[in-house]
Amino acid sequence: MMRLDRILANARIGTRSQVKKIVKAGRVKVNGAAAPSSDIRIDENTAEIEVDGKPVVYAQYVYYMLNKPAGFITATEGSVPIVMDLIHEDARSMFPVGRLDKDTTGLLLITNDGPLAHELLSPKKHVEKEYIVRLAHEVSEEDMQKIAAGIRFEGEEYKPAVYKKISDTSGSIILKEGKYHEIKLIFKALGNHVEALQRIRMKNLILDPSLKEGEYRSLSEEELADLRSSLQPSAAASNEDPGHIPADNQ
Ligand code: URA
Repeated sequence: MMRLDRILANARIGTRSQVKKIVKAGRVKVNGAAAPSSDIRIDENTAEIEVDGKPVVYAQYVYYMLNKPAGFITATEGSVPIVMDLIHEDARSMFPVGRLDKDTTGLLLITNDGPLAHELLSPKKHVEKEYIVRLAHEVSEEDMQKIAAGIRFEGEEYKPAVYKKISDTSGSIILKEGKYHEIKLIFKALGNHVEALQRIRMKNLILDPSLKEGEYRSLSEEELADLRSSLQPSAAASNEDPGHIPADNQ
């Protein structure tokens, strides 16, 4: 059993508050009858739900925030330790959103929501990823300017990134792309060396500081709604067509 608003939000009909309005407007039917309110509990596996006469196919999406420890490969299969070994659920349909190097720690979103993962990883979206980096040598003002201007190294081009100093040999760095070993190679290009790397944010999803390495938890409804709306501000802000069901959800 599950609340109707949760089911509709999971099916990407809208945020919880948008869904509430849609239900109030009498646009949602459950088993043929207009739903009286968005907080009724229904059996998501058997109920027939319609929004504006269109059936809603319920997809049980899951979203976990993992604090990845070092030593795990970001992969869904393999005999070496992989991040999915840390998820103690039936994780067969899940996958990590983006890759962290084996020795990188921190925020990794694990989900079975392909469309959302696609949005987060699409190079067109320029999704911000923020890391804390510890370096072997001091990062100079000149290095920071080079990072901000973008770096060419070994035939690759790394787009401008924002580095902020925490100490002489540590700082935060925000990337808007995700090339292979990007941060390590940026600092290699500057004659430095990354000693430790931790991802702390992806878009507006922030690593929960209370999660120990190797631990994970479900995203809160608020985190998920914020993440979705940050990716699709116009769609989330619009009440025009919230009954539209994305094809990938069918
Ligand atoms: N950049 C790297 O070099 N490694 C990571 O894991 C992530 C970004």
